[in-house]
Amino acid sequence: MEKIVALCKRRGFIFQSSEIYGGLNGAWDYGPLGVELKRNLKDYWWKCMTQTRDDIVGFDGSILMNRAVWKASGHEATFSDPMVDCKTCKARFRADQLDSSVCGQKPSKSPATCGGELTEPRTFNLMFQTYVGPVQDESAITYLRPETAQAMFVQFKNVLEVSRKKLPFGIAQIGKAFRNEINPRNFTFRSREFEQMEVEFFVKPGTGHEWLDKWLEERLAWYEAIGIPRAKIHVLTVPDADRAFYSKGTYDLEYEFPFGIQELEGIAYRTDYDLSQHQKASGKPLEYFDEETKTKYIPHVVEPSAGVDRTVLAVLCEAYAEETVKDEESGKEEPRVVLRFAPRLAPVKAGIFPLLKNKAELVAKSREVQKTLQPLMKVAYDEAGSIGKRYRRIDEEGTPFGITIDFETLEGVKEASTSAVGANIAAGQKETVTLRHRDSMKQERIAIADLPAYLLAKIA
Ligand code: GAP
Repeated sequence: MEKIVALCKRRGFIFQSSEIYGGLNGAWDYGPLGVELKRNLKDYWWKCMTQTRDDIVGFDGSILMNRAVWKASGHEATFSDPMVDCKTCKARFRADQLDSSVCGQKPSKSPATCGGELTEPRTFNLMFQTYVGPVQDESAITYLRPETAQAMFVQFKNVLEVSRKKLPFGIAQIGKAFRNEINPRNFTFRSREFEQMEVEFFVKPGTGHEWLDKWLEERLAWYEAIGIPRAKIHVLTVPDADRAFYSKGTYDLEYEFPFGIQELEGIAYRTDYDLSQHQKASGKPLEYFDEETKTKYIPHVVEPSAGVDRTVLAVLCEAYAEETVKDEESGKEEPRVVLRFAPRLAPVKAGIFPLLKNKAELVAKSREVQKTLQPLMKVAYDEAGSIGKRYRRIDEEGTPFGITIDFETLEGVKEASTSAVGANIAAGQKETVTLRHRDSMKQERIAIADLPAYLLAKIA
């Protein structure tokens, strides 16, 4: 994990928030590569939810909502963790995580074993409270949302009407959520500010368990599509005693992180709890008229709720590899660090390299290739250092393809070959480049004209 954290900083994936002021515990900034990775992940989720199926519509709710929402949802009264204080070192810990917490004074021990005197557990509400408007009194209180879900429940009627959908149908949203976690830890895994990707999927009463199982399969396939193999995801059927009070069935999808097997996503059958609560509290009907059965009822909900930051972290952990390889220039054995991202998630899709930076024709042709590809995908031009060093750099950044423009590009290839797309490249043919593959380090030639379609198919 330390190596991954160090790589994230070195290559600009993730930085500590407010680092120059000593940081802010539980908050993280995504650097130039991290933001691309995160965006690609969110875009792929969004595409899978709202584009390639027609029973889910998108939504973007506000972070600040009327306090009544949090009263009705139960968050104001019950969204809390048990907390204990250490009377000796004054630190606070989650009472249910004492064994895995670290004592601030004796880092080799846990607060359960360091000898410090602990208070009785008390509940600590995780919502960040704030005030709306200039007067800071009771009537102005609200909270930063601790989940994106509630806005989709309270706007259920509006969304249903405008989208003219029939049950079963879902609302999808990606957005920030905030929880004043007692002990943020494990890099971005448990943060105080994070993003969620949630679907509220509204179904007929009596079909909730069936949809819960359908969503489990759907989500497992999705993780495979982003490069996390099924074998690395553990499906936990959450026992009755551990489920949220509103849930009649929950699966937790857990990933084998270097720090242990931990939750990536929860898929919960939330029954009609949320809509019923909001109907009761607001006095506004949130029922659905079923034209088939000519009956009115409150829909039930199945909710796949995934954490963006946790998934980014899982993708980074899964992609990270250290290996010994033959350097492509010197032929010497060398260590390499490589991030084997699924190409669809890779922050940069291709590096573009003129073989030599002091040959104007090579540079001009490389810039031309860059201009052709730039409208289609994120590419990076790099002319600094030897080709071997440049390849090693893009390996560490997880860039799946390297494109080298060399003298054969300008003067014609010396030998005939079969190109990356299976076409014949004849001896003497110009306008071809070397295409280098990150994972196999295999190199082959491809016509510049074939590059856009070839790369687009690989990163889809
Ligand atoms: N609407 C349901 C809900 O919010 P949750 O299990 O509390 O359920 C869903 O959160 C997902 O959000 C988790 O599986 C996790 O991926 C992410 N998440 C929750 N708390 C988090 C935190 N403190 N830091 C990072 N991600 C978090």
